[in-house]
Amino acid sequence: MNPYSLLAFLQVQASNLPERKIANMFRPLASPGESEKQVALLTFAITGAIFVVVGGLIVYTIARFRSRPGDDLRQEPPQVYGSNQIEVAWTIIPILIVFVLIGVTARVVAGVQNASPPKTTTHVTVIGHQWWWEVQYPDYGITTANEVHIPFSLDGAQATYFMLQSMDVAHSFWVPQLSGKTDVIPNRDNYLWMNPKAAGYYYGNCAEYCGTQHANMQIRLVAEPPEDFKKWTLNQQTKANEASEAAQDKAVFLSLSCVNCHMVGGTTAIGKFGPDLTHLMSRREIGGGVIENNRKNLRAWVNDPQGIKPGCLMPSLKLTDRELDQVVAYLETLK
Ligand code: CUA
Repeated sequence: MNPYSLLAFLQVQASNLPERKIANMFRPLASPGESEKQVALLTFAITGAIFVVVGGLIVYTIARFRSRPGDDLRQEPPQVYGSNQIEVAWTIIPILIVFVLIGVTARVVAGVQNASPPKTTTHVTVIGHQWWWEVQYPDYGITTANEVHIPFSLDGAQATYFMLQSMDVAHSFWVPQLSGKTDVIPNRDNYLWMNPKAAGYYYGNCAEYCGTQHANMQIRLVAEPPEDFKKWTLNQQTKANEASEAAQDKAVFLSLSCVNCHMVGGTTAIGKFGPDLTHLMSRREIGGGVIENNRKNLRAWVNDPQGIKPGCLMPSLKLTDRELDQVVAYLETLK
């Protein structure tokens, strides 16, 4: 085992994958995020200095020119009518500041956008839906939802390129610790890349208001060692689990209208409207991140999605208790 994979191994074994729940853009763990942090700090420094100067002058003026006992309140203070020097100064200085900010921002944006792909590149297509993310891997023939697996490397040599598309309205894809946010717009392909330098279960969210459940359109990005990513792709490429003891539950599932919207690879469920369920149990959350993926939640979700995520496009099918149990039992076989 070489030192690189040993380090990666230790990092991952410590707690499976480190949780990166606080999506802090000031602790970037990928190259695009690192350069964008520099721009953010420079902008804060310049605008912070302006704040201090302007705020300081206001405080000084209030203190220095306040009314004092004995002032003649009927008399107007001396009036100043125009000063060329002052007017030229407060026109030129803001223009210079704005040009510095534009220049630095444009340089970093161009640097990130024009970076040439490293040798090892994974391609992912992310499609925004109200209110979940479809995730496709064209090179592997995989479709999944909400949880994006990509490889990472300590030196940043493993990069992933995202093509961003929308099925309905404008969304925005943002995993703050890895790269800046990029809008996801109907009838347009946008691009984004990142090269995570640390393993982790990264949190992100849709960053453009897209309707009632915008807040529950969450992104989970799993940056894992290339070996684990490979294993994950191999599992995702397999057809749905065909456990014989679930045959009856499966028949019930396939007889319901679930199949109009959901796909389960290798079965007659070929719906495209909702998330692909072929390997549903490999994901930690359901409903676009609204609840954890476990039996109790799954049952509650299938029973009444509107109670958990009001406004979501999945209807309640008003299943009987027995049907619910069977559907959930079948879904639990989709590992
Ligand atoms: Cu999608 Cu906000």
